[in-house]
Amino acid sequence: MLETANKPIPKNNKAHWLLGGSYYLMQDPIQYLFKNMADNQGIFKLTSPIFKTVVVYRPDYIKYVLQDNNKNYTKSRAYKIVSGLLGQGLLTSEGDFWRKQRRMAQPAFHKERLNAMLDIMVSCTDETIADLAAIKPSETTNMANHMMALTLNVVAKAMFGSEVPDGIVQTVGRELNIANELALERVSSLLIVPLWVPTRKNTEQLRACNALYKVIDDIIEKRRRSPGEYDDLLQMLMDAKDEDTGEQMSDKQLRDECLTIFLAGHETTALALSWLWKLLHDSPDKKAKLVAEVEQVLGDKKPGLEDLRNLPYTRMCIDEAMRLYPPAWAIGRRTIEADVIGEHIIAPGTNVILPVYCIHRSPDLWDQPDDFIPERFDKDNAKGANKFAYFPFGGGPRLCIGNNFAIMEMQIIVAMLVQHFNFKLPAGQEIEVDTLLTLRPKGSRMPMIVETR
Ligand code: HEM
Repeated sequence: MLETANKPIPKNNKAHWLLGGSYYLMQDPIQYLFKNMADNQGIFKLTSPIFKTVVVYRPDYIKYVLQDNNKNYTKSRAYKIVSGLLGQGLLTSEGDFWRKQRRMAQPAFHKERLNAMLDIMVSCTDETIADLAAIKPSETTNMANHMMALTLNVVAKAMFGSEVPDGIVQTVGRELNIANELALERVSSLLIVPLWVPTRKNTEQLRACNALYKVIDDIIEKRRRSPGEYDDLLQMLMDAKDEDTGEQMSDKQLRDECLTIFLAGHETTALALSWLWKLLHDSPDKKAKLVAEVEQVLGDKKPGLEDLRNLPYTRMCIDEAMRLYPPAWAIGRRTIEADVIGEHIIAPGTNVILPVYCIHRSPDLWDQPDDFIPERFDKDNAKGANKFAYFPFGGGPRLCIGNNFAIMEMQIIVAMLVQHFNFKLPAGQEIEVDTLLTLRPKGSRMPMIVETR
């Protein structure tokens, strides 16, 4: 295949004299990516003095990277930096080790297992409803923070059982946030000071990580000392056995998986929800349709498992929010051996960027790409079903393990919150996007006025 592939890869169309296209990518990634995608070749080379990088944006090419030839790709540099801090969990591990861990963890996320999480999701949402109800109508509040606290609470209780004392959730939230922010700074800098150099930031980073390790190690140790009947994710992971060797996870592996699930599982979900509240504010007709569905199916009662199936429009709004604002706005890979994408030869060790945000808004793939139209995800609509034109949870074997968990959680949260509240952006409030590792509102702020229904 390598012999017949000879089509040159187009280069980025604007480059800094020293730093190449990567300079403009760092300045304004989304605009720069869109500009370079306009020639519609499906791939372009991002010039840089340090890294070999291509950006790939045709759905069939994306399928090739994530699925068909996934064995030739490892995760990109950003994941390696996160793994240096949060260990070797599912998100960052590779090869046989990842395969074994994924096989062991998968049953914990099966649909039947998730059903047991419904009560946790409902009771955590109830706590948030109480917090929001206490806010005066004259005040604005940061919905991004409320969503972050809520999804962290859900994932902590799903992981460790609902008897986990509140203080622990707050400690994990605080330290995880510090570790995450500092990891982010490292990801976005060209020059990285090794963690063993005792700079102020490195010291803070290590302190936060050690605090997290201690909280989780203590819980695991307590469980080992007094095993019992627990019905949570940690117990599932502790009981999981490799089907070939009968091996179980060590305490270190358990800790890494717990931390990974905390990190991967709460911020993404909170961001999708935060963006959805903004979109609903901007589209009163869609909001009215959503509220009508919830009123008709639930009235005043809390959602049960059966109800979720009967809330298709709620689900469509969530899908559409993740199209317009995919929390994982870009996915990164690196080639192991030389490869051929389309007719283009890709050198070994090339970073491959899959710009999820731009593909989700490509005018070649979507009608009215920037408009909030949940109806496009109606199950009869073929566009919404184009798998690699819409991939907020990634794809192929490394598809998000928590996708069903997240969808169920978001449906419950959205339905319960619209039963109680109407969220409004203050007049004239613009919300810009911030392209960090995840797609956040600028300053992590989604200021909103909370009106009780
Ligand atoms: C809206 C919410 C979520 C979004 C948008 C999201 C997105 C993603 C994406 C795009 C990936 C693949 C990354 C890649 O291929 O490089 C991923 C992987 C992962 N996610 Fe999620 N995620 C969400 C919620 C969750 C939840 C709730 C959990 C756990 C409770 C979770 C746990 C994980 C884990 C462990 C992986 C790594 C899987 C593997 O490589 O085997 N995520 N997620």
